[in-house]
Amino acid sequence: MNTTGIELGKSRSDCSAAQLDLLLTFVSAVQNIPGDIVEVGSWKCGASIMMASAAPHKYVFAFDLFGGLPYGEGKGFENFASADWDEILAATKPFRNLHLLRGQHETTVPTFASFGKPISLIFLDSDHYSSHHTTLLSLCPLLSKGGLIVFHDWTFPEVQKAVSEICKPEDYQMLGLQVTSQAEINLGNTPPPTGLVNLEYFAGRMWGSTNNLLWASTGPETISGAALRGNLLNMGALRRL
Ligand SMILES: C[S@@+](CC[C@H](N)C(=O)[O-])C[C@H]1O[C@@H](n2cnc3c(N)ncnc32)[C@H](O)[C@@H]1O
Repeated sequence: MNTTGIELGKSRSDCSAAQLDLLLTFVSAVQNIPGDIVEVGSWKCGASIMMASAAPHKYVFAFDLFGGLPYGEGKGFENFASADWDEILAATKPFRNLHLLRGQHETTVPTFASFGKPISLIFLDSDHYSSHHTTLLSLCPLLSKGGLIVFHDWTFPEVQKAVSEICKPEDYQMLGLQVTSQAEINLGNTPPPTGLVNLEYFAGRMWGSTNNLLWASTGPETISGAALRGNLLNMGALRRL
């Protein structure tokens, strides 16, 4: 493990420190699962550098336009448009197990999938519907048993839509997440009863149901049909059974 690389990666990432630590936990969990690591939506390759440093025996494939707007003006990702390709190439060069796949995911991800390389971890941090749909459709068949799909934006409806269209609940286990800080719980009623609780753990299935079902557990207590917002990680992960 290259701890300097891990710190460099963290410093270049758009993800929060808590999200990156959780991602590192997931990388550790797949060390002995066959297959490489893929990040879809890499920006300046911060998370990719971190993962390549934490898993030097695996290849990490980073997908992005690396500068520019994937869906044109006013369609999002303006904050990431100024990424500098030459700077990213220079920064990633020391990490020999990290490979960049530049272009629109809708083209690059299916092309990559056609080579049939096994995958142990997919980190999705990109456009909520199209990128997720393309990635899940193309890469899920390559995910090894025990492999993980880690979602930066698990709690968002368009991510859930893509998941529900591609992933069969019987093929995956939803992993519990450690939520370290306080979170605001909105039970979804009108007016919503809200309150601050310490969420130490939540797990759930948000797909395969008629509504945006999420169940959350705070120790012995279970909250059904809750919408969670606030200082949550928003992340989720599925393990291939
Ligand atoms: C939130 S950023 C990724 C942050 C990164 N994971 C990190 O750790 O810093 C989302 C990225 O997705 C890229 N993106 C979104 N949709 C895309 C698409 N269809 N094709 C290629 N890149 C896309 C954007 O260019 C942007 O760099």
